[in-house]
Amino acid sequence: MDEPVHRSLPGSTWSAVAELPTYTGSVGSMLVAQRAAGAAAAALIALATGGVGLVDGVFGLYDSTAEELADLFGVDEAPPVAVAAVRALRPVYEPLKSLSPSCTAALYPEFNDDLDWNDCSLLPRRVFWRSGVRAPLVVQQTMRTDNMWDASTGSAVWGGGVVLKTYMEGLGEEFWAGKRVVELGTGTGLGAITAAKLGAVEVLATDRDVAVLRLAEANARANGVRVGDGASRPFRTALLEWGPRPGEGDGSSSTAPAGGALSVDAQQWDMVVGADLTYNRDAWPLLVQTIKRLNAPVILTASERRVDELANLQAFFAQSGLRYEVAPSPMERGYGREKVRVYRIAVEQQQ
Ligand SMILES: C[S@@+](CC[C@H](N)C(=O)[O-])C[C@H]1O[C@@H](n2cnc3c(N)ncnc32)[C@H](O)[C@@H]1O
Repeated sequence: MDEPVHRSLPGSTWSAVAELPTYTGSVGSMLVAQRAAGAAAAALIALATGGVGLVDGVFGLYDSTAEELADLFGVDEAPPVAVAAVRALRPVYEPLKSLSPSCTAALYPEFNDDLDWNDCSLLPRRVFWRSGVRAPLVVQQTMRTDNMWDASTGSAVWGGGVVLKTYMEGLGEEFWAGKRVVELGTGTGLGAITAAKLGAVEVLATDRDVAVLRLAEANARANGVRVGDGASRPFRTALLEWGPRPGEGDGSSSTAPAGGALSVDAQQWDMVVGADLTYNRDAWPLLVQTIKRLNAPVILTASERRVDELANLQAFFAQSGLRYEVAPSPMERGYGREKVRVYRIAVEQQQ
């Protein structure tokens, strides 16, 4: 990927954003114990990763049809015992894979060369570790091999979603405490749930797809986030198709409350977040229109799937009157670091 373009935001709301905290581990007598624990953890991770590597080899087989298996092995008919053996791997494969670094930390390639798909998206559940001793987030996905061409892209967590979550956590709870946050294109709800977990006082998870809003609500509840309309319930959902407000132009349906009775226009939000929303170039003007309408600082992650996609996106932001910075990647390596950028965006105020 090309070097990121950094555009400064003098005097923008981003001056309030803390740099990602630097890890400063304790030294001295704890060092030996820490090293031992580190080595043990590294060995465990290596074992798990090795195991995942092995079962990765058979992914795509375990729910293939008998004909697909036969094709793959170059035989006329796959022996039923082989089909049954492959199927039997599923209960082992899924938990192991969902705990693997490739799925928890966006280390995987977005599209697997052999399968043209990212198998993390097809797991029924994904686990996302949180810093400190906090319980991980466990996120249900509804994308499967038999529905993936019809299901909303929001029925699985994407690499950009993992990067957004990691970046949001890096900003720290003090940053999110008391904030009112709206997520665009929430999908499974990972970004919105992360905001609620980090102390946002009010969170609105939006999407154009009502099925994924239900999924986002279920995921919020499953992770201990209170969902609903009461004052003590920080998490709500609303249908939101990007573009003009209803009645403002193109006749699209725009906002209509789903799980909660709140529309995105009901109030001024402190922060807008969004992950992996820019894969369809035709939607860029609508997304930008919505960002302007919300008129709050934005954290957006975007993936480089096509040549120059992010350079073109950045040019489009600039032409559209959005000021942006490319933030340092919160990821150490892998797809999340190499192919996903984190943008901090502010709407240019008209003089
Ligand atoms: C690739 S998914 C990303 C989901 C999630 N943010 C993540 O990163 O895991 C894109 C999401 O944006 C939503 N979306 C796409 N176009 C939209 C539009 N024009 N208006 C509102 N939502 C849209 C989709 O329904 C989907 O949930």
